[in-house]
Amino acid sequence: MENKDKVKNLIDLRAEAKLGGGEKRIASQHAKGKFTARERIDMLLDEGSFEELDMFVTHRCYNFGLEKEKYLGDGVVTGHGTIDGRTVYVFAQDFTVFGGSLSETMALKICKVMDMAMKMGCPVIGINDSGGARIQEGVTSLAGYAEIFERNILASGVVPQISAIFGPCAGGAVYSPALTDFVMMTEENSYMFVTGPKVVKSVTGEDISTEDLGGADVHAGKSGVSHFKVENEEEGLMMIRKLLSYLPQNNLEEAPIFDNNDPIDRLEDSLNEIIPDNPNTPYDMKNVIHTIVDNGEFLEVHRNYARNIIVGFARFNGVSTGIVANQPNFLAGVLDCDSSRKAARFVRFCDAFNIPILTLVDVPGFLPGSGQEYAGIITHGAKLMFAYGEATVPKVTITLRKSYGGAHDVMSCKQLRGDFNYAWPTAEIAVMGASGAIEVLEGRTISSMNDPEEKAQFIAEKVADYNEKFANPYMAASYGYIDDVIEPRNTRFRVIRAFQALQTKKVVNPLKKHCNIPL
Ligand code: HXC
Repeated sequence: MENKDKVKNLIDLRAEAKLGGGEKRIASQHAKGKFTARERIDMLLDEGSFEELDMFVTHRCYNFGLEKEKYLGDGVVTGHGTIDGRTVYVFAQDFTVFGGSLSETMALKICKVMDMAMKMGCPVIGINDSGGARIQEGVTSLAGYAEIFERNILASGVVPQISAIFGPCAGGAVYSPALTDFVMMTEENSYMFVTGPKVVKSVTGEDISTEDLGGADVHAGKSGVSHFKVENEEEGLMMIRKLLSYLPQNNLEEAPIFDNNDPIDRLEDSLNEIIPDNPNTPYDMKNVIHTIVDNGEFLEVHRNYARNIIVGFARFNGVSTGIVANQPNFLAGVLDCDSSRKAARFVRFCDAFNIPILTLVDVPGFLPGSGQEYAGIITHGAKLMFAYGEATVPKVTITLRKSYGGAHDVMSCKQLRGDFNYAWPTAEIAVMGASGAIEVLEGRTISSMNDPEEKAQFIAEKVADYNEKFANPYMAASYGYIDDVIEPRNTRFRVIRAFQALQTKKVVNPLKKHCNIPL
């Protein structure tokens, strides 16, 4: 072959690789409303920044006639590029090649970019669209998955890992995403399950649709496996870019600091009146969040799951901050198994990646009852307590209204190493609410009373007395558990000031192999 033909041959080979499983399968992918692996990467990364690796890799399988069916690149597109100028490593499974199923060589390609990301301290983004282990390969595919899983585990807490689920993902294809920091699913075409509906039917007899078994609504709302539900792939890819803007490249760096044009001393008079007079009347905590953060911008994580707690990212004076907030608008903001797990994971993520945490408290306590006890609320609640207690990033806590009982302790109280704990004058910090407390303390007297009017008056007096003593932040402030009682409208400024004063915080936990968080 002459040299000029060699160049032409290269160009031809590249063109062939770019077709993946061929034009027919690409058309079928498009017909389902899905983009191809390369189209997805192009949309995700800064224009023209993608450098592809391993385009000429093919599988090594000789079973079931597979040796006659080879595709350049073998089912995954891998490489690196930039997002807002910062390097990321990516892999995107190519459903047009054996349904994106994982072969030994495909695993090697994915592991290569994961290893490079670790070496360079850069995030890894995986776009998943895969039928799981490549059936024809058998155990080498399983081994390939385990190689990926091990890398996911070792990279956890070192570089951010983000998984987009843009197709049907079964078997091994769901476990790698589950080991990463954030999972995103599209409303249509995106499924995650350990075993698909057909296997479910044959093993348990349960008849269930693909959507109901592992669609985006299920995982964003019920199981909590997915952190973000997006309408379509474009929205999802833009969301990944946005999410990364709040994150550092790795655990040794800080998140990028943005120019801020929102005045740091902006007073918000509406906050002085946002807490209703009736302590049982809800209000929307998201209004508080949007009001105090830079330019009202808040990227909510797990929006549809355990809505009694809100978690997400915002900026204060340009600095990326994780926010955890009870939501009185949903189940009165109570802590239960799901909300505890959700918040614990978020707190640990922020701590792993040097992102300060703001906690906004309005919590009536843990949800009581056999349902929660049987589901292990003790262990799940302990997760959140553990996460806050071990976190060494700057922690600022504001108590807006209720902060009762164990939930008071859990929600980043002073003794769990809260750095600055402020309260609004509307805060109520006590072991429990007034009526519950009087029920316990005066139960015998109350039940001995026969005259209903006398009883009601007695209870009202005791409740008023209790509220006088406890339905305020000043007892906690008198012990120094609350550092200051602040005017609600000035919250933004006080939060920014607090985090500025904590910038140089250095706390090191006792040396250990690892902790034993109650899983
Ligand atoms: C090899 C596969 C494949 C697989 C799909 N294909 N899955 N090839 N191994 N696992 C191929 C199909 O043969 C087909 O090839 C092409 O991909 C597209 O698949 P379709 O079935 O036509 O597409 P669709 O109707 O959209 O259904 C997609 C699907 C379904 C839901 C993913 O293919 C499916 O159920 N696949 C099997 C899922 C599964 O059980 N995987 C094993 C999990 S066990 P052609 O040539 O027609 O284009 C596992 C163990 C690891 O992963 C555990 C580690 C913890």
